[in-house]
Amino acid sequence: MAHDTPQPHASAPQGPLTGSIAVPGDKSISHRALMFSALAVGTSRVTGLLEGEDVLATAAALRAMGATIVREDDGTWVIDGVGVGGLLQPETALDMGNSGTSTRLLMGLVASHPITATFIGDASLSGRPMGRVIAPLSTMGADITASPGGTLPLMVRGICPAVPITYTLPIASAQVKSAILLAGLNTPGITRVIEPVATRDHSERMLQGFGAHLSVEDSPEGKVIAITGEAELTPQDIVVPGDPSSAGFWLVAGSIVPGSDLIVRNVGLNPTRTGLITALQMMGADITELDPRTVGGEPVADLRVRHAPLTAITVPADLAPSMIDEYPVLFVAASYATGTTIARGAHELRVKESDRIATMATALTACGVVCREHDDGLEIDGSGGTAIPGGARVASKLDHRIAMSMTVAGLAAAAAITIDDIAPVATSYPAFFDSLAMLTDTRLTDTGLTNNEAQQPA
Ligand code: S3P
Repeated sequence: MAHDTPQPHASAPQGPLTGSIAVPGDKSISHRALMFSALAVGTSRVTGLLEGEDVLATAAALRAMGATIVREDDGTWVIDGVGVGGLLQPETALDMGNSGTSTRLLMGLVASHPITATFIGDASLSGRPMGRVIAPLSTMGADITASPGGTLPLMVRGICPAVPITYTLPIASAQVKSAILLAGLNTPGITRVIEPVATRDHSERMLQGFGAHLSVEDSPEGKVIAITGEAELTPQDIVVPGDPSSAGFWLVAGSIVPGSDLIVRNVGLNPTRTGLITALQMMGADITELDPRTVGGEPVADLRVRHAPLTAITVPADLAPSMIDEYPVLFVAASYATGTTIARGAHELRVKESDRIATMATALTACGVVCREHDDGLEIDGSGGTAIPGGARVASKLDHRIAMSMTVAGLAAAAAITIDDIAPVATSYPAFFDSLAMLTDTRLTDTGLTNNEAQQPA
């Protein structure tokens, strides 16, 4: 959704973060829960869905292609699917807002249906590369016309039947993998994706849960994921676990703000997503797992984080796929550490909602942090645990994770950091500032109460 009026926000130190909050539903899992439910025959129910703008864009697109999607008063989402092969021709362009995941996965869905769809998005999304999905989907037979540079607006003319392919991912991307698997659902025969570097596996887990014939095998070339079409999906009841990417902001905030001691509840801990926790623990962060359990087929726990002195590390490049969305907030942690953190091997950051290497280098430099930009990452000289100067106005560049990361940076800075526009936060974490207010509300903690649990889903 385009936000016409920028919403500036000044982030200033407010004392320790204490109490407990629950993070909202996982964005990746929420998109997939809606998409697979829309392709099942019958009624699926989803609880814990992330009600952020990105996921709502997916819901709107699926409705435009025939699925019935209703939110009940208790927050349960009820989806009546059209069945694999049953998507209808949308009457107008599908507005993907800021959401790369909606765009790339839905392009895969449309590619093997006998329909044509036009995809449009905001200025950030319209600059992002779609060639990575256009190439394999075209090989399957879809006819895709894109704007110069392989960007939005673009039109996908699906083909039915599409041709099954075996495709080795040239970049580590769960979106590309998932787009091909989604196209494979309505493609007769076996569609294979070979993944040399493991990425988040929510599509594989959930498709198996919906009854698709999907196998995952190791090979010398990497993981081979094979899906047999034309699939029939059985409706499911899905509980979406909390988003570890959203939890990341509190893990870093709790680590850098002196005196903090907080609990983040309901954090999904799928091993393909936990790179930030590993990196922070290597830096000396005090993070403990409480009450480990399984939610919706995914490992989940509550995380307790206490302020701790952080030490710079060289971030292992092989952690990149499991923390790809968490680099901006890791850069904030590095800014408060002792020593020079080197985070490289993450070239993909250049093509996220913004160029996250350049955007963070510019923002941190404006706040008095010394950092050096490389094509694939940043080197950051930490403050040694003391306040960074702050006192600057920084640009979020239509990027929710930059807005939230720089808000976290301001919580321990010497002077307030003003983010020029926090409106994009609504794409993935509409309750972010409410949760921040709860964690910094001394009226609650001074009286010995933890935060108002009633306001947060369990
Ligand atoms: C996602 C995959 C990642 C991630 C994005 C969500 C997904 O993108 O950055 O926020 O849900 O599949 P890439 O596939 O481009 O790495």
